[in-house]
Amino acid sequence: MVLNVIQHDLEAIKEAARIVREGGLVAFPTETVYGLAAHAFNEEAVCRLLEVKGRARGNPLTLHLASVGGVESLVEEIPEGARRLMERFWPGPLTIILKKSASVLPVVTAGLSTVGLRVPDHPVALDFIRFAGVPVVGTSANRAGRPSPTKAEHVIQDLKDLIDAVLDAGETRTGIESTVIDFSGEHPRILRPGVITRAEIEAVIKTPVEDARHSAPAREYPRYQPQCFLVYSRKPLRENSVRLQAFPPDRKILVVTLDRTLLFSGSQHIQKMVLENEDALAKHLFAILRDAEQKGFDIIVVDAIRREGKIGDALIYRIEKAAQEIWDGD
Ligand code: TXA
Ligand code: MG
Repeated sequence: MVLNVIQHDLEAIKEAARIVREGGLVAFPTETVYGLAAHAFNEEAVCRLLEVKGRARGNPLTLHLASVGGVESLVEEIPEGARRLMERFWPGPLTIILKKSASVLPVVTAGLSTVGLRVPDHPVALDFIRFAGVPVVGTSANRAGRPSPTKAEHVIQDLKDLIDAVLDAGETRTGIESTVIDFSGEHPRILRPGVITRAEIEAVIKTPVEDARHSAPAREYPRYQPQCFLVYSRKPLRENSVRLQAFPPDRKILVVTLDRTLLFSGSQHIQKMVLENEDALAKHLFAILRDAEQKGFDIIVVDAIRREGKIGDALIYRIEKAAQEIWDGD
C-alpha cells in the first residue's frame, strides 16, 4: 500500500504508525534515504524485517527516535561528547552508537552490547515515529546489497508485496545515508562517512575522532550494488578515456561525470550524464544506478570525484564499495 504524504497528510501518517505499532513493516522517508521501520520491541516484527531485507544476522540495525528525550532508557549512559553531538546535529544525518540498555532486543543489535540511534530530520519521519509511540528500527529500505532507496518507487522495486505500506514523500534530500559514529569505546570513531564530516564533529566535541570505517561491522557485506557492471575511475576520464574504448561496442555504457567538457569521439554506445556538483551527485547517485539498470545499460562508469568537497569522501566511499572495478592512474 502506497500512502501519499507529499502534502504531509496526517491521517496517512497515523495509519502507517498504527501498522508499525501492530507489528507491520512500513517504509518511510528521511532526509537521507528511505528507511524500513519495525516496532523495535517486537521481536517477531524485527525478524520479519531482517528476512524481507535479506539482512545478514551479523549486521546490526539502528533505532530511530522522534527526539533526544527517547535515548535515556535505551542506553547505559550518554557520554558528554555524544550529548553535545545530539544537541548540535539532531534532528539530522548522524547515527550515534552507545552502550545499550537491557531494553534493546539482541535481534536489533546483532547480539552486540551497543546500539545505534538517530533522530531523522524529516517532518514526515518525525510525525510517523511520534504517532507510533515507540522507537522504530529504521534500516535503509532496500534489499541487502542494493543501492539505498531515495524515492518510494525504489522501495517498491525491491520490497513490493513484502512490506505493509510505503509513505511516499517524494525524493529524499541528501541522498546518502547518515554518518555513523561510535561513542561506546574510549575514543570516538567514525564507522561510516556521511554528510556530517569528521572535521565538523571534532569542532563540536573538541577531541580527535578516529576514522575506523575499515573496522565497521558492515565492512564485510556487499553494498549499494546495481545489476549493471559498475566502474569507478579514480583518474579523471578526460585523461583516461582510452579505457572506455576498450569495452566491446555492443555494450551500452553510461558515463556519470561532473566534467561538462568531457567528450568521446565516435562512441555512439556511450551516453554521458553530467551533474552540477558533488552535492547533486550524492543526491542522485543511487537513483542513477537504479535508473541505468531499468534502462538496460550494461556498464556504468563514474568519473573521478574530488575528495576535498564536504561530501566527496562520503561519495567516494560508497562508489568504491559498489564498484566491481576501480581504474587507477595507469
Ligand atoms: O541515513 C541512515 O542512516 C539510513 C536512514 C534510513 O536513517 N539508515 C541506514 O541504516 O543507513 P542501515 O541499516 O542501512 O545502516 C546502518 C549502519 C550499518 O552499516 C550498520 O552496520 C551500522 O550502521 N551499525 C548499526 N548499529 C551498529 C552498532 N551497534 N555498531 C556498529 N555499527 C552499527
Ligand atoms: Mg543500508
